[in-house]
Amino acid sequence: MRIGIPKETKQGEKRVAISPDVVKILLKAGFHCNIESDAGLNASFTNDAYTSAGATIVSSANEVYTTSDIVLKVNAPTVEEASQMKEGICLISFLYAYTIPDVVATLNQKKITSFAMDAVPRISRAQKMDALSSQANLAGYKSVILGANSMGKIFPMLMTAAGTITPSKVLIFGAGVAGLQAIATAKRLGAIVEVTDVRPETKEQVESLGGKFLSVQSAAEVKIEGGYAKEVSKEYLEAQQELIKKHIKDADLVITTALVIGRKAPVLVTEEMVKTMKTGSVIVDMAVESGGNCEISEKGKTVNKYGVTIIGETNLPSLLPFNASELYAKNIATFLVHIANKDGFIWDSEEEIAKGSLITKDGNSVHPSIVN
Ligand code: NAI
Repeated sequence: MRIGIPKETKQGEKRVAISPDVVKILLKAGFHCNIESDAGLNASFTNDAYTSAGATIVSSANEVYTTSDIVLKVNAPTVEEASQMKEGICLISFLYAYTIPDVVATLNQKKITSFAMDAVPRISRAQKMDALSSQANLAGYKSVILGANSMGKIFPMLMTAAGTITPSKVLIFGAGVAGLQAIATAKRLGAIVEVTDVRPETKEQVESLGGKFLSVQSAAEVKIEGGYAKEVSKEYLEAQQELIKKHIKDADLVITTALVIGRKAPVLVTEEMVKTMKTGSVIVDMAVESGGNCEISEKGKTVNKYGVTIIGETNLPSLLPFNASELYAKNIATFLVHIANKDGFIWDSEEEIAKGSLITKDGNSVHPSIVN
């Protein structure tokens, strides 16, 4: 089986789907790897590193698309890229298929079997393939670093001959994958960290990292299913807003990571709240892509409103391309060997991981997120 890896073309994307270390693993399993020239350069993986690992460098993306049995990518292909793919091949990539109907139509025209890394079920058996988590973990780290870099203050307390510097306060919304890493990073840098989440079980996790958990005093219901917030009532959100109002005034950095699966991001920081924040403080809205946890953040932009810097970076993992590619490569390679071996495909259409991430097959859309 021939695996092909093109250079990513999405603007600002520095990651690559496969690292030289993972090439070695795939070659050992009997696959052939063709990599577009300089595909890994922005992630610090040179052509030489890939060839030393045993891959073949090819000169163009078109060559990858026309000679591979399986294409591995980070981002969904464009319609133009999908049109170049050989009929009937397999594609594995982040797809967010419901956002790209034209691409899905092209994949179907070409009878491409596509699997989405963003649709891999978040079950223990699939942990090694969980690219959403590996990337969110790094993004949580980077959100703190970006925020710190935009502040005119340091995080730790500092006692100097010229006086004592008080520590910065970091307020974090959401203690999932990204939020927990943001807490750990801010603590390591010496900040005082306050955190709120709708799932009560996160209190213990937050405290074990040295954060202070802010509990919302509300009898209103939060629906939790399979460990994820499914539905947060209006009453709960109102009680939460009262709590946020009290704490946001003193925050130097606010990181928002609140997500309810399958919903638009909840608005937790309103324009009125931003007005009450200290001049020079910073908000990093990690949920900006799905509508934003801050009412006035702007997708892909850093803006200053009411003296507050609001960062709406949509691709934080790409700002750490080396580690992000390293982890993504392990996730995607684990998925690949789950569905194929050197002689062909081995996946079972009823198996939970393959079934849950299958988007198109034999000219039809099959994933529930895009069917109907
Ligand atoms: P996750 O599902 O692990 O965590 C989300 C957390 O938000 C959960 O713990 C949930 O209980 C909590 N939550 C839901 N409603 C809340 C509310 N009203 N108040 C407080 N907490 C609430 O998700 P993960 O992987 O940590 O990602 C977090 C966000 O970051 C997502 O929106 C994701 O799309 C985004 N993200 C952004 C990146 C970027 O480059 N900007 C990169 C990676 C992730």
